[in-house]
Amino acid sequence: MAFLWLACGLLALPFDYALAQDGDILRYVDSLIGTGLGGMAKPQEKLGNTRSYIDNRAGHVFAGATLPFGMAKAVADVNGENQGGYASDYSNITGFSHMHDSGTGGSPSLGNFPLVAHPGCHNDDVNECKFTSVDRATPQVNGSVLAEPGYFTITLENAVRAEMTVTNHTALYRFSFPEGLADMPLSPLILADLIDLPKSRSNASVSVDPNSGRIVGSGAFSPSFGIGTYDLHFCTDFFGASIRDTGVFMNNRAGSQPKNLSVVTDGVNNSPEILPAGAWVRFKAPENNATQISARVGLSFMSTAQACSNAELEIPDFDFESTRSAARQAWTDKMSVISVTPGSVSDEFQTIFWSGLYRASISPQDYTGENPLWNSTEPYYDSFYCIWDSYRSIHPLITLFDPESQALMIRSLLDIYRHEGKLPDCRMSLCKGFTQGGSNADVVLADAYVKNMTQGIDWALAYEAVLSDAEDEPLNWAVEGRGGLASWKSLGYVPADDFDPHGVGPFTRSISRTVEYAYNDFCIAEMARGLGHAADYEKYVARSENWRNLYKEDQNSTINGTETGFTGFLQPKFMNGTWGQQDPIFCSPLLNFTSCYLNPDGHETYEGSSWLYTTYVPQDMASLITTLDGPDSFVRRLDYLHESALLYIGDEQGFLPVYQYHYAGRPGKSAARAHTYIPSQFNTSVNGIPGNDDSGAMGSFIVLAMMGLFPNPGQNVYLITPPFFPEISITNKISGNKATIRNVNFDAEYTNVYIQSVTLNGVAYTKNRIGHEFFVDGGVLELTLGPEESAWGTRYEDLPPSLSTG
Ligand SMILES: *[C@@H]1O[C@H](CO)[C@@H](O)[C@H](O)[C@H]1NC(C)=O
Ligand SMILES: *[C@@H]1O[C@H](CO)[C@@H](O)[C@H](O)[C@H]1NC(C)=O
Ligand SMILES: *[C@@H]1O[C@H](CO)[C@@H](O)[C@H](O)[C@H]1NC(C)=O
Ligand SMILES: *[C@@H]1O[C@H](CO)[C@@H](O)[C@H](O)[C@H]1NC(C)=O
Ligand SMILES: *[C@@H]1O[C@H](CO)[C@@H](O)[C@H](O)[C@H]1NC(C)=O
Ligand SMILES: *[C@@H]1O[C@H](CO)[C@@H](O)[C@H](O)[C@H]1NC(C)=O
Ligand SMILES: *[C@@H]1O[C@H](CO)[C@@H](O)[C@H](O)[C@H]1NC(C)=O
Ligand SMILES: *[C@@H]1O[C@H](CO)[C@@H](O)[C@H](O)[C@H]1NC(C)=O
Ligand SMILES: *[C@@H]1O[C@H](CO)[C@@H](O)[C@H](O)[C@H]1NC(C)=O
Ligand SMILES: *[C@@H]1O[C@H](CO)[C@@H](O)[C@H](O)[C@H]1NC(C)=O
Ligand SMILES: *[C@@H]1O[C@H](CO)[C@@H](O)[C@H](O)[C@H]1NC(C)=O
Ligand SMILES: *[C@@H]1O[C@H](CO)[C@@H](O)[C@H](O)[C@H]1NC(C)=O
Repeated sequence: MAFLWLACGLLALPFDYALAQDGDILRYVDSLIGTGLGGMAKPQEKLGNTRSYIDNRAGHVFAGATLPFGMAKAVADVNGENQGGYASDYSNITGFSHMHDSGTGGSPSLGNFPLVAHPGCHNDDVNECKFTSVDRATPQVNGSVLAEPGYFTITLENAVRAEMTVTNHTALYRFSFPEGLADMPLSPLILADLIDLPKSRSNASVSVDPNSGRIVGSGAFSPSFGIGTYDLHFCTDFFGASIRDTGVFMNNRAGSQPKNLSVVTDGVNNSPEILPAGAWVRFKAPENNATQISARVGLSFMSTAQACSNAELEIPDFDFESTRSAARQAWTDKMSVISVTPGSVSDEFQTIFWSGLYRASISPQDYTGENPLWNSTEPYYDSFYCIWDSYRSIHPLITLFDPESQALMIRSLLDIYRHEGKLPDCRMSLCKGFTQGGSNADVVLADAYVKNMTQGIDWALAYEAVLSDAEDEPLNWAVEGRGGLASWKSLGYVPADDFDPHGVGPFTRSISRTVEYAYNDFCIAEMARGLGHAADYEKYVARSENWRNLYKEDQNSTINGTETGFTGFLQPKFMNGTWGQQDPIFCSPLLNFTSCYLNPDGHETYEGSSWLYTTYVPQDMASLITTLDGPDSFVRRLDYLHESALLYIGDEQGFLPVYQYHYAGRPGKSAARAHTYIPSQFNTSVNGIPGNDDSGAMGSFIVLAMMGLFPNPGQNVYLITPPFFPEISITNKISGNKATIRNVNFDAEYTNVYIQSVTLNGVAYTKNRIGHEFFVDGGVLELTLGPEESAWGTRYEDLPPSLSTG
């Protein structure tokens, strides 16, 4: 921008008009769900147990403006729990920043280069404006937040209203200023701070052009849950008022000379309060009584020049309303492959559903063209944050409603393998993130493979990548691959006292890593079979049975000294073959739940108990059920797991056990169980998800559960339960075919949640699962419902496949 125009009439149009129209699915998206700090703390008082209060289980959902899978994510940042930038906790606003992740735990993510808009400075003195994030934090006007797909607005106590919208790599802000005060004439000052939310900056620089007001800058930062550093660049232009003066600031001191600065880590002024520094532009009071100034922030991981060109290309004219409506249109297009016949289902349930779909489409982020690490013509997606969370529901859901994006994400995973030597388990901000259990990208690849995804995916390379996970231990298995591979190959389990001089990582989680490695190897076996590697198939099938090696058949479980009545749980085992001991309820919400994270003094199971991990044999549920004394006993065990608060649905390992009744011939109990969680744990309040959304994991669970076809990820299996709507359809964008699931005898009170009979395209269908062909080929699955469990789907031949039963 060479010069600035005065605010024009267009920008002064009322901004509140309802864009939503009847039938517009976006009016059922509430992007504030999961922005509260409360978590779901209501006790489930069954079996006399009280669910412990689980603290620090906020949703951390990103509430601001983004495109589907977009890079720019603009929102107001709070000074409370700000992993996702904004939180509905009434804490103060420290600025408006342009990149975020959604729903993550760990440190806050991104939030680089926030803008702050002051209506003026006291006594008209630049040095009386507040520059540091501590000093400038301003309370919000309660009730002023409006959040919609592609749009976010908030008004602060200083009467500045901020609105924001985005394109793929650019954030556009519109600040509305109040009239001036006697001691503070209207003369807006907008600053850009070289900081990020985790305060991880090591070095950065900024400069401001005194003529155009353009601020460009760069910084080196650390990822929020990983190793290494990344550089990010920005380019900010203003529109709406003429420039009065410009300069830089450091700490709370500002000056109009020089026009640039660089900051490094000096070894003294260290984290957590790194030195505040940045640039500012002060404007003359907007003329003609117009009070709006727009700020356009282009972003790039490549260079400041690319940040500027992204902005100029994507938002050439600062047109806020057209950018906002293009973002809305992008969301409508993305989501409208799914259609729902709501019948008399409440707005609340519709909002739970569509908001879940929305949250599952925020990440991973498309950084194609923005990857400075290697040159490639392949797509580059980032914020696989983390695959341990996302393989269970997010990727299976994206495969259903946006298979094209899923294929690009898989190609991107393979390109990461090609250039970094391993598939990621977690990745954010161009850096390697921490691995939580197995090498679960193997499951994502196998899931796409068994669903016949092609779309340019190099399956030979994919096979090479999963073999590398299974065979070659990396030096740092905290961030990729698997540890303990020597023991895994020779002993068939991860020993609690493993001797592993081949690589480093947290020597914990021996039980959960064992069952995850076993399932990862099953997924590799499936790919081996399809790709014609018969010997590999046998090898990995054998390794997939390793879960048995940690099954201790005489292990009992007591809660506060009272026998639970169940015997047989996974237990740790030493290298010499003798058993270790971990209370089967340890790491559950009932006992030391918060002692089982990814820390060096973690335990043998990760974020869940042996009770929970003992059910994790997705490859061979038939054999597990036999091992656990047959279907009746297994059903009682699942009931106990859910009703005793041993299982916390806010962690993703809790998802599949909702549906495992199918494998015991009781599909009706899966349906009933889903209704105990929705809406009790998943609803429309700001605390309406039970834990971190984890990049949309909770959102995708909701969608799959309410759709009535829940995947066993990594397999061509969807377990059938009634949708929460009379009818739901999904159009496959690749084949163009439409799959419809229809309920007969549906009631919105959910009395009739038990399937009595099913037809597929008019023909009786008794299996309690269906394959992905249904979605590719399209068709109608019609479920007749009743108030009691029936014989449908209960016979041996109706059950989903298991390794031991074929
Ligand atoms: C076990 O007993 C203690 C002490 O009475 C109590 O605080 C706790 O809630 C009990 N736990 C369960 C799971 O019942
Ligand atoms: C927010 O700002 C107000 C007014 O400056 C202050 O009283 C309050 O303590 C701040 N709250 C937080 C969470 O910083
Ligand atoms: C906003 O609401 C919160 C919670 O009710 C309250 O603590 C705070 O004082 C309110 N702020 C204002 C400015 O009314
Ligand atoms: C944003 O990027 C996606 C690809 O991820 C592309 O399909 C879409 O057209 C882009 N949107 C705009 C408005 O350029
Ligand atoms: C930070 O410093 C490193 C090492 O000197 C340099 O390579 C990098 O380009 C710098 N990054 C930024 C954003 O200034
Ligand atoms: C400021 O910009 C000038 C001119 O480009 C450059 O020579 C100087 O090194 C910069 N100073 C800092 C501190 O970055
Ligand atoms: C600006 O507009 C406000 C509200 O419309 C009005 O009250 C005020 O007098 C106007 N100020 C000037 C200088 O025109
Ligand atoms: C990518 O290619 C460009 C142009 O050939 C080159 O300047 C750049 O260094 C390459 N980047 C990497 C990471 O190899
Ligand atoms: C995959 O392709 C094979 C061979 O064409 C076909 O038999 C199978 O049904 C397809 N599976 C899916 C899930 O589409
Ligand atoms: C384990 O439980 C079973 C049945 O509940 C009981 O018979 C047995 O004595 C218990 N074993 C131990 C070691 O407590
Ligand atoms: C096996 O190893 C464990 C852990 O090192 C040790 O405590 C135990 O005594 C050993 N048992 C035997 C029989 O050597
Ligand atoms: C269980 O949690 C308590 C309280 O946080 C802690 O003091 C104790 O060390 C934990 N026990 C184990 C075995 O981790």
